[in-house]
Amino acid sequence: MDSKKLSFVAKAIVATRKGVLAADESTPTIRKRFNSVKVESTEENRRRYREILFTTEAIERHIGGIILFDETMRQSTQDGTPFPKLLSERGIVTGIKVDKGTKALALYSDEKITEGLDGLRERLLEYKELGAQFAKWRAVIEINERDIPTLFGIRANAQVLARFAALCQEQDIVPIVEPEVLMDGDHDIDRCEAVTSQVLETVFAELDAHHVLFEGMLLKPNMVIAGMKCARPAGIEQVAEATMRCMTRYVPAAVPGIVFLSGGQSAEKATAHLNAMNATGPYPWEVSFSYGRALQAPVLDAWKGLESNAANAQQALSKRCRLNGLARDGVYAQEMERED
Ligand code: 13P
Repeated sequence: MDSKKLSFVAKAIVATRKGVLAADESTPTIRKRFNSVKVESTEENRRRYREILFTTEAIERHIGGIILFDETMRQSTQDGTPFPKLLSERGIVTGIKVDKGTKALALYSDEKITEGLDGLRERLLEYKELGAQFAKWRAVIEINERDIPTLFGIRANAQVLARFAALCQEQDIVPIVEPEVLMDGDHDIDRCEAVTSQVLETVFAELDAHHVLFEGMLLKPNMVIAGMKCARPAGIEQVAEATMRCMTRYVPAAVPGIVFLSGGQSAEKATAHLNAMNATGPYPWEVSFSYGRALQAPVLDAWKGLESNAANAQQALSKRCRLNGLARDGVYAQEMERED
């Protein structure tokens, strides 16, 4: 393991005013996203859509890394430049989603476990040859009334995340460790904080036991937020305060960056939360983003599969990148949403 290289790449991804674009939707997930704007999910439409994202002018100012899905990793621009090469020429680090999605955790009804460890060492080797310098694995933790998550469910997922992270670092690939506590449900912010705390404590204990180098990884957690159906939604400052309290308690200072997922929040909310967290800094780690929907929903809305909308779609991405770049410094304001 080349610890200097790992730490260099991890820091580059979360350099000043930068974060991650999660463009690693699996084939079923991108079909769902395309359906919402009535676009057929053909291989060419998926390629063209990703080309629109990756060729948007100046995104490298605020995007340090982009996570790709296996198919995208092997695709190219219209003029034949492989996507990983295009990104590297723009100074953007290429990442790859390597988990194979979630399945029911056997004998633990309602909980999930992420699959994909079998053959991962060999797959990482191939992805490295294709240009990947970091990799992502998502574990999913659901909350319901009182009985889930169980401590066993949390531990099982934490162990798998740590196995993934160790395999990545063995090959000098920076792992993005993503334990996502879902926003679904009617739980309040306190319950989300309690569960997220337990998850992070367990994940870091497992990472440590697996000899994972904290300096050479990034954490991709959920924000501490009330469930989407909660009768008492939390305000922006409350989310920022609870999230930073939880991260300060459970994320070691040696980790170079925390890149939050958006998890179904609107684009504006995700930016406002990131801004509020950075406004109360500094913190020992970079407080950044690795948004999928919060960066792409406005792009898909503008594009709708039409070539004549490509420029507008790119403008929508530029805007989200710029505003999240400002939120990285804690200087974003809601009025900026109206400026173009
Ligand atoms: P969202 O920001 O849409 O939650 O996606 C982030 C991601 O990569 C989930 O794995």
